[in-house]
Amino acid sequence: MTWIAAFRSHEDDCRRAPSAHNTQPWALRYTDDAVDVHWDPSRALPDSDPTRRDLFLSLGAFIETCLVVAASAGLPVRADIAVDHSSQRAARLLPSPSVYDTPFTLTSVQQRRCARGGYAPGTLDPAVLAALTALGADLRQVPTRTLVAPLAAADRWMFGTPEVVGELRAWMRLSPKHPRYQLDGLTDQAMALSRIEATGLAAMIGPRAYPLTRRLGGPALLAAASKGLLRYDGSVLILVGSAVTPESVIEHGRALVRVWLALSERGLNVHPLSQLLDCAATAGQLTEKLDLAPDESPLAVFRTGRPLKEPIRSARIPASQV
Ligand SMILES: Cc1cc2nc3c(=O)[nH]c(=O)nc-3n(C[C@H](O)[C@H](O)[C@H](O)COP(=O)(O)O)c2cc1C
Repeated sequence: MTWIAAFRSHEDDCRRAPSAHNTQPWALRYTDDAVDVHWDPSRALPDSDPTRRDLFLSLGAFIETCLVVAASAGLPVRADIAVDHSSQRAARLLPSPSVYDTPFTLTSVQQRRCARGGYAPGTLDPAVLAALTALGADLRQVPTRTLVAPLAAADRWMFGTPEVVGELRAWMRLSPKHPRYQLDGLTDQAMALSRIEATGLAAMIGPRAYPLTRRLGGPALLAAASKGLLRYDGSVLILVGSAVTPESVIEHGRALVRVWLALSERGLNVHPLSQLLDCAATAGQLTEKLDLAPDESPLAVFRTGRPLKEPIRSARIPASQV
């Protein structure tokens, strides 16, 4: 069996990588001597992610996951990151003289998951933060409570912006009856919503009701629903870095998934709060708070801790159905 055929047999594990809105924007193309990582523009989020920060972070997370999965299978594979916009190619996976050096395994990849419900109080152990930084991530820690008001503002912006709500609607699967419930997107269970909450949200952001919802103060109401999210003593981590090229954002996405895997191995989950960066006002406030170099910006924001309830395993499109 060629290394490419061997790698291909593990594609479903690679697809466990995280992506914004669980869009799984990646597309693998197998050639005779390489595995090319492309992105599918129909799975990008042009309105929520106009700078494509989350797209390239997600592609980086996928590439790192591919390398971990290959290493776990004993396959010597490396990634050549070079973005080609005309063919929408992010990287090539190529044979390597040695197996990728990573502390993570297939089990790490399979066990990692986001958790969006309640977290037990407790801030991140400084030794853990130091271990995460050693994985090549520049992380800043902020107490959860300091972001209560900015998160409410970002949520009001998110639920009040029709194009962003349109993309949320397209990727939310608020009922198990949704035809893509097992495949992609954000399910009610993944978002830790009760049946009543999911039904209410579906009714408020449905295409017909949303214009009225928006006029009658629905965005503030929806934002209020997540107000309690950060009202406990916990940690929010902010990944910062220079994002001048798509390649550099991909590298940050690789570091991001290493951090999430390392947290997961310690029984800690993450809950990204990207709306804080998508909303220009709160992104500006956050950037001011952090002592950043001129070319640096916050790239990912997530709370981390021990979830009160075991999070569910999120949906993925099987490689056989691509
Ligand atoms: C770049 C990036 C941004 C994300 N932003 C958010 C976010 O703002 N809110 C959220 O709840 N999840 C966010 N996520 C988490 C994804 O929704 C999650 O990875 C996906 O639904 C798959 O679930 P899993 O990570 O539990 O496997 C983000 C993930 C990535 C990689």
